[in-house]
Amino acid sequence: MPETNKAVLNKTEKNKNVINKTVLAYSGGLDTSIIMKWLQDQYHCEVVTFTADIGQGEDLEPARRKAEKFGVKEIFIEDLKEEFARDYVFPMMRANTIYEGEYMLGTAIARPLIAKRLVEIARKTGADAIAHGATGKGNDQVRFEVSAYALNPDIRIIAPWREWDLTSRERLMAYAETHGIEVEKKRDGGSPYSIDANLLHISHEGGELEDPWNTPDDQVWSWTTSPMDAPDEAEQLIIGFSGGDITTIDGKALTPDEVLIALNTLGCKHGIGRADIVENRYVGMKNRGCYETPGGAIMLKTHRAMESLTLDREVAHLKDELMPRYAKLIYNGYWFSPERLMMQKMIDASQESVNGEVRIRLYKGNVDVLGRQSASDSLFDKKIVTFEEDAGAYDQSDATGFIKLNALRLRIAANRKRDTDF
Ligand code: ARG
Repeated sequence: MPETNKAVLNKTEKNKNVINKTVLAYSGGLDTSIIMKWLQDQYHCEVVTFTADIGQGEDLEPARRKAEKFGVKEIFIEDLKEEFARDYVFPMMRANTIYEGEYMLGTAIARPLIAKRLVEIARKTGADAIAHGATGKGNDQVRFEVSAYALNPDIRIIAPWREWDLTSRERLMAYAETHGIEVEKKRDGGSPYSIDANLLHISHEGGELEDPWNTPDDQVWSWTTSPMDAPDEAEQLIIGFSGGDITTIDGKALTPDEVLIALNTLGCKHGIGRADIVENRYVGMKNRGCYETPGGAIMLKTHRAMESLTLDREVAHLKDELMPRYAKLIYNGYWFSPERLMMQKMIDASQESVNGEVRIRLYKGNVDVLGRQSASDSLFDKKIVTFEEDAGAYDQSDATGFIKLNALRLRIAANRKRDTDF
């Protein structure tokens, strides 16, 4: 092992049990409230809380109140919606990203941003560690930690779920009770699901969904109207693109977060973007989840339509070949890796010509493209493609040689076969 690595390891080894200050990704919910207290007790360290508004649609003030109650002196509550939409969701959408053919990565794409802010706040407050409430079974722990290490190789990370003995709901409740942590009594008795929400999606896992044969209970779908109950009147819209990003809806200029909010509202109304899927987690197990990505589904469909008119064939095909790789990188937590950054540069470069408008109709779970146009970048040439008289724009006899040369090897092989057959 090189000397430098040894030195780094020794340094870490020596300070192993001493943590002075930890920045906790704090949602204000029960689990992370328990973690807040547990960190104070187990590590005897000062806890800094960080709560982000990434569009999960929850009031964040209770998080402040609860943190104050437990003596937290440095409380960070930040609105990250704009940054999330602009620097994470939009770049990802430029690649038409989908994991395993179905999952729009709503949770995966939010994790690097949260990790980045944790690391930045640790630097700012002089904390030596960060902590999160992701369990030891999931992808989120990997995404948080891989991202954090990429941004600060010396950061210490505490993942209480992998350390503590609070391994059941019962034990957690008992801990909460002993330590005066409030357990909210929800009107519906609390959701039986593990939920994660942000501006791009809401996900549900667990409960009856753990049997992949079970049909999800109606209450799983919490954002979108059922396509069966969606309005009988279709709605038409014109989505405007500039450099591969949606910048207008019906001619109105919007920022990326405003675009997502507007498309979510429309998508929810028309029952768009539901997915009930079984996916492969990075840690090796399969998982069943129900996802609602209403705005994202509209973005994806319209973006593809815009690209269909404005991208060169080989550029489009190359993007499509690389997309699953890119999706896997994001799913597995490698947003800040050199290979993701390299691919992003390539994807972004391809988007220069993706300008124009797509006209769509939303109707009972469907996004139908009704038309597309690009005054500046359309590669669609009616003069050439027309079924009518093309006035010499295209010489059909050129196709004879094209086909003959492309078929040459097949003819040689067929000839050989004929020779041996007889
Ligand atoms: N299975 C999805 C993913 O890995 C969703 C995870 C949701 N996370 C959560 N903490 N409930 O991206």
